[in-house]
Amino acid sequence: MNMVLPLFTLGCTLTLLLPITAALPPQQPLVEPDTAISKSSNLPLILWHGLGDNYKADGLRDIGKLLNETIGDTYTFFVRLDDDPAADRQASFLGNLTLQVEKVCEDIATHPILSKVDAVNGLGFSQGGQFLRAYVERCNKPRMSNLVTFGAQHNGISEFQKCRDSDWLCWGWSGLLKGNTWTDFVQGKLVPAQYFRNPEDLENYLEHSNFLADINNEREVKNKTYKKNMKKLDKFAMYMFSEDVTVIPKESGYFADVNTTSAEIIKLEDRDLYKEDWLGLKWLDEKKRLDFRIAEGGHMALSKEILQEVFNDYYRPKA
Ligand SMILES: *[C@@H]1O[C@H](CO)[C@@H](O)[C@H](O)[C@H]1NC(C)=O
Ligand SMILES: *[C@@H]1O[C@H](CO)[C@@H](O)[C@H](O)[C@H]1NC(C)=O
Ligand SMILES: *[C@@H]1O[C@H](CO)[C@@H](O)[C@H](O)[C@H]1NC(C)=O
Ligand SMILES: *[C@@H]1O[C@H](CO)[C@@H](O)[C@H](O)[C@H]1NC(C)=O
Repeated sequence: MNMVLPLFTLGCTLTLLLPITAALPPQQPLVEPDTAISKSSNLPLILWHGLGDNYKADGLRDIGKLLNETIGDTYTFFVRLDDDPAADRQASFLGNLTLQVEKVCEDIATHPILSKVDAVNGLGFSQGGQFLRAYVERCNKPRMSNLVTFGAQHNGISEFQKCRDSDWLCWGWSGLLKGNTWTDFVQGKLVPAQYFRNPEDLENYLEHSNFLADINNEREVKNKTYKKNMKKLDKFAMYMFSEDVTVIPKESGYFADVNTTSAEIIKLEDRDLYKEDWLGLKWLDEKKRLDFRIAEGGHMALSKEILQEVFNDYYRPKA
């Protein structure tokens, strides 16, 4: 596996992303150049935001700007489940992920710019990481070339995130969760429940998980399309935040399994998912197309430098 140490340490660097409750609505209306095909040779970027965020958040716009400044003009598509930012934010908590991924696939496949290109790149923040992976596995139209995920929950979460005092939406759904994780009602509605995975209770997970058990090909019948599509990635880079206390366990960002009792970490390469190559991850790793990287700091504390590292290493066209 390619372990890459951070190229810099955080300190006085700019934190681009606000905490998960980004301000609504954005101060300035955004004009999307949906009609003009970019003249640049850079592949368009698909960016899927995290829980509690919305596609018009200022922090995301700043990232699009930084991308243009770093590698030249690049069309960025900010994934949204609804054009209304408040509804888009709500959909990050509430909804059936099967339908959400289907909608995003459809939006991308029929988009005036994205439908005309041979390939796109992907940037997934937190839960947006595993959702973009689902795009690759289930749809991949257009094909994703380089997928980068930050603080994703590729192997799920074994604990639900705590809510902030004032976040009524979060309290609303977390109230519904208690003891009901595996009911159809919760699996069909609450987004984080669909990637909940307790290694001590795999039986319920395999039987009821509406999302993760499927896209991770953990059930007896494997979907060959998922593996075939993953093998079409040029690079799959996973960033884990060194001080992440929001994602439990944070090693989920590397597809690792963590024993909830002993805290033992079972690395991806030691898991059946890798050894039997249910998703093509072993194949990608052998071809040096799987990267495990560290971002210093807490969950989604993105520095300008780490983003520029990603843009240069994964999105800058090869000379
Ligand atoms: C970045 O470049 C793209 C492609 O030319 C353009 O559509 C977009 O508006 C630019 N983004 C910013 C923030 O300037
Ligand atoms: C595998 O996934 C593809 C893409 O989502 C789907 O069309 C197909 O029905 C799935 N196959 C099985 C056996 O579930
Ligand atoms: C989610 O939606 C899919 C597609 O309509 C459906 O098959 C599935 O049963 C739904 N999941 C739940 C738990 O309701
Ligand atoms: C986790 O570790 C405990 C203590 O070592 C062990 O008894 C248990 O079987 C492990 N759980 C799993 C799912 O491997």
